[in-house]
Amino acid sequence: MSDRPRRILVTSALPYANGAIHMGHMVEYLQTDIWARFQKLRGHDCIYVCATDAHGTPIMLKARELGVSPEELTTRISAEFIRDFADFGVDFDNFYTTHSPENEALTVEIYEALRASDDIYTKTIEQAYDEQEGMFLPDRFVRGTCPRCKSEDQYGDACEVCGATYSPSDLLDPVSVLSGKTPVVRESEHYFFRLSEYEARLRDWMKSASLDRNVLAKLEEWFAAGLQDWDISRDAPYFGFNIPGTVDKYFYVWLDAPVGYLASFLNYCKREGTPDFDEYWRPGHDTEVYHFIGKDIMYFHTLFWPAVLLGAGMRTPTSVFAHGFLTVNGQKMSKSRGTFITARTYLDHLDPAWLRYYYAAKLGPTIEDIDLNLDDFIARVNSDLVGKLVNIASRCAGFINKNFDGMLAGALPDPELFEEFAAASGRIAEHYEKREFSKAMRLVMMLADRANRYIDQHKPWLMVKDPSRLDDVQGVCTQGINLFRSLMIYLTPVVPTIAASAREFLGDSDWHWADAAFPLLGKPTSKFKALTTRVDADKVEKMLEDAKETNPGEVFAGKGDDEDFISIDDFMKVDLRIARIVNAEAVAGADKLLALTLDLGDSTRSVFAGIKAAYPPESLIGRHVVVVANLAPRKMRFGVSEGMVLAAGPGGADIFLLGPDEGAEAGMRVK
Ligand code: 2FM
Ligand code: ZN
Repeated sequence: MSDRPRRILVTSALPYANGAIHMGHMVEYLQTDIWARFQKLRGHDCIYVCATDAHGTPIMLKARELGVSPEELTTRISAEFIRDFADFGVDFDNFYTTHSPENEALTVEIYEALRASDDIYTKTIEQAYDEQEGMFLPDRFVRGTCPRCKSEDQYGDACEVCGATYSPSDLLDPVSVLSGKTPVVRESEHYFFRLSEYEARLRDWMKSASLDRNVLAKLEEWFAAGLQDWDISRDAPYFGFNIPGTVDKYFYVWLDAPVGYLASFLNYCKREGTPDFDEYWRPGHDTEVYHFIGKDIMYFHTLFWPAVLLGAGMRTPTSVFAHGFLTVNGQKMSKSRGTFITARTYLDHLDPAWLRYYYAAKLGPTIEDIDLNLDDFIARVNSDLVGKLVNIASRCAGFINKNFDGMLAGALPDPELFEEFAAASGRIAEHYEKREFSKAMRLVMMLADRANRYIDQHKPWLMVKDPSRLDDVQGVCTQGINLFRSLMIYLTPVVPTIAASAREFLGDSDWHWADAAFPLLGKPTSKFKALTTRVDADKVEKMLEDAKETNPGEVFAGKGDDEDFISIDDFMKVDLRIARIVNAEAVAGADKLLALTLDLGDSTRSVFAGIKAAYPPESLIGRHVVVVANLAPRKMRFGVSEGMVLAAGPGGADIFLLGPDEGAEAGMRVK
């Protein structure tokens, strides 16, 4: 292999702008980030780009529901994404949006190229149409009875009960999810991409792309079923890019989304002035392009996307790396089990380095699912990261600090052992390169065990008692610290914040992978500070409680200045009543909640209210409060909540119940 740095472009799938980043997403962003950081540490030119996936019907409708423009919704959600990713140490070189001028220009350019190569044609199709809403309905927006097993309330494309797949017109008693009305069938002209012509070229690409065997098997399955042409247009109203030459046709979000990889990269090139965009996206260069994705979007990335690029005369990805899904405690993440954990909820309670290490310890290159088992998470982080790795440094640093003024010895007492650690570099690097992160972590931890054994054998804590052996203490501790340093260099891509603190302690300015082969000798170190702490099971418990109490749908709380209004009709729908609190008690296992029993005059309700920090339960009994009486009951972890008590304030202890005046009677209407 030549010594010239490789030029690599890496992407993660673009998250949709209608929900919060959660633990499942983080598998992919951490996997990609670790790989990109590894390449950089090895001295390669590696650029990692991503963006918000801004377009499509769900985002348009979400914005409508929130009373904001889709641009505003996606801008605000992007800002949340950027914060979450940054706090997890995901180090994008650029994070952009698909709703950008670069993306529009590139999408149109690709589309025009496809038209020129006769890859696009139009055809009239029939589709479900909601007359009340005035829009065509995506399959998922029609529900009805499964034509096969007769289960009710199934999606328009597939039955969750019997697994049948069909089109919305096959559903019995179909209704529009938007209006609840029966949709009609309406014709519309759509634009199609001739994917069916691409099998041979895709087969050539897939031979060169060294795909995982599971991905290859999937591709074979799809080829065997026959490639269908791809509908790339959608009718207005739609949040996306208008198709040139049409008034009311838009590119389907899945056409412009992967083009968003190019657009984010182009935006980066323009900002930085380098590299040359064409060297990465036109054929004939030795640059490498890798897409990290989830296994659910393989069809888009291994069929549609390379075919579109081929048709447009562009280069195809070097490879596509698909990973599996995340389960939490062995099951699909679930809101009701409280295991639907958003990135922010995790960050509110736990150190991101722990998750980065845990995922790395579990990740391999295949599409196998990975499990975030929270007991195992605690055990693994405490035993490996704290008990094995950090322990090496903390066992040695104290002696160096205290007895030698922070100075490392001028030579290693056991250079062979150091060499063993240096010699592992090749194998560890190979594991990283192949995304065998779990193997890399195992090897590093085996070496950490070896380093701890070395310290156990030499017992500096005993030697230090003998003044004639002080040089040996300095030597053994210098040895230990250098073994730790090599391992820390190897782990830099996984736990960059811990590595940065370790580097600071060691007084190293910067680390490259190759530095692990050269010991640090005769140099001063700084005072040693704890690099990370043990995971506290209580904190994990608290995170789970929080996950339970946070509604992941509430990702977009604030609204714009001008749009902070609801209509009077909306307001009139809210049934506000006065209720008397007849009982209030803490909820076992919940941090913020009180269980209230409310007398509404004609009925009694159980309501959970997040006011525990502000009011001792007994102080509430007998008080009158205003309650939203017609809120649909909500199932929470601790039971069903049958209303909502109104209060104001910034939260925590500063919550003020809006108690009505004397004379209030349970059941009174407030407006
Ligand atoms: O599945 C998703 O979440 C999509 N938003 C991923 C898009 S990846 C790329 F093609 F843009
Ligand atoms: Zn069915």
